[in-house]
Amino acid sequence: MNNLIELTSGDITRLDVDAIVNAANNSLLGGGGVDGAIHRAAGPELLAECRTLGGCETGTAKITKGYALPARHVIHTVGPVWHGGNGGEQELLASCYRQSLLLAKQHALRTVAFPAISCGVYGYPLQAAAQVAIRSVREFATDPGSVEKVYLVCFGDEMLEVYHGLL
Ligand code: APR
Repeated sequence: MNNLIELTSGDITRLDVDAIVNAANNSLLGGGGVDGAIHRAAGPELLAECRTLGGCETGTAKITKGYALPARHVIHTVGPVWHGGNGGEQELLASCYRQSLLLAKQHALRTVAFPAISCGVYGYPLQAAAQVAIRSVREFATDPGSVEKVYLVCFGDEMLEVYHGLL
């Protein structure tokens, strides 16, 4: 099985890929963190399209154009807020990766880049989140369709070291 996963670090808004994944909130109307960075880089048309989507359930994903981003599309997903791990957070986070990848496949995309969903404002522990991310992408790799490369983007060395330790 060719290695679908590639680690990279830096600002996800600068990646020239078919889709970058946004760690959004249920309103899809923007926020801080990577959500804020993506909306700033994409421009106001992204928010205008997001307004038409009617929000997004935690663990699910919706796709828009990328507008001023180098990426052709943005896949918006809403990760779980970490409440200690006994509220189904792990399954919701896995669902974010799974649903985002299914959307990429449905849209015949080849390259997709993920930030560390839920690992910022939403407080998900990095090590546990990285394990969910890698396991979810590996499960998807059994039937990836058009998807040839999944970039796991680290914004800082800490996450890069965590992912390296797991791969
Ligand atoms: N490129 C790549 N990764 C980034 C970038 C960037 N430009 N900016 C932040 N990150 C990383 C953070 O370091 C973290 O590891 O993205 C990961 C996710 O952090 P958040 O953006 O805080 O997202 P999350 O924890 O899922 O919280 C979502 O935050 O911004 C609001 O509207 C958003 O309410 C939602 C909540």
